[in-house]
Amino acid sequence: MSEFFSYSHFDEAAATIRERTTLRPRVGMILGSGLNSLAESVADGVTLPYGDIPHFPVSTVEGHVGRLVIGHLEGQPVIVMQGRVHYYEGYSMAQVAFPVRVMQVLGIEVLIITNAAGGLNPEFRAGEVMLISDHINLIGMGGLNPLRGPNLDRFGPRFPDMSEPYDRELQALARRVAAEEHVPLHTGVYVCLAGPSFESPADLRFLRLIGADAVGMSTVPETIVARHGGTRVLGLSGISNALPVAGAPPVETTHEEVLEAGRLLVPRLETIIRGVLAAL
Ligand code: HPA
Repeated sequence: MSEFFSYSHFDEAAATIRERTTLRPRVGMILGSGLNSLAESVADGVTLPYGDIPHFPVSTVEGHVGRLVIGHLEGQPVIVMQGRVHYYEGYSMAQVAFPVRVMQVLGIEVLIITNAAGGLNPEFRAGEVMLISDHINLIGMGGLNPLRGPNLDRFGPRFPDMSEPYDRELQALARRVAAEEHVPLHTGVYVCLAGPSFESPADLRFLRLIGADAVGMSTVPETIVARHGGTRVLGLSGISNALPVAGAPPVETTHEEVLEAGRLLVPRLETIIRGVLAAL
């Protein structure tokens, strides 16, 4: 099998999903570590385990359920990924981005991406939300760009623009909803690393120095593929742990801590996402 997917692979997966529901989702959502429970609010949802969808990658990490939920949220037809896969699990970048292509074939116009991230900005506390205004594709700069390989012209150009990865209007909408609902909301730059090991003290100093406010192991590949195909992206990071920068003593980060803060973050993220969906 080729290292890369062609349109027919996405089409096959989309056809399997279409067999299960007549709903035509306008909005796709990717829910990261510990944020899965948001999908339980989806009304009259049809669920499909990733394993039932041809070519779909199956998440292996604790906290990632691994199924699609298709239904309504705030009256909006949505397709929700309850859990995602990451490069560090051993999947290729093409596999990491596969679900985004399938959602594009299904006709989504907007993709809402959430993740759990470490806070590099000293003003961020665990349990707070950061609206992603931009990203640093550190993983891609190292060669792991999800668009590597034959360009799929039906989705977009060989050299896609990335001057506005996160949609300005959607950002403004998220800010408005957060203000109205009294949810504290930071704005900042997300940097994507390959993982799975967390950052060393020198890694953290470097990431802060290059302008990152939050660090994680996802989102950027999905955003790049979404933008390549013309999908508008809203990115939200749940700050699961505040990282020591600027000479602070090292603290240990554990996956359990990340999942626990995720549980605290769910209501805040849910409020913002519901408000955005209602206004779309
Ligand atoms: N580093 C990288 N990824 C993460 C972190 C972190 O501290 N927290 C949650 N995802």
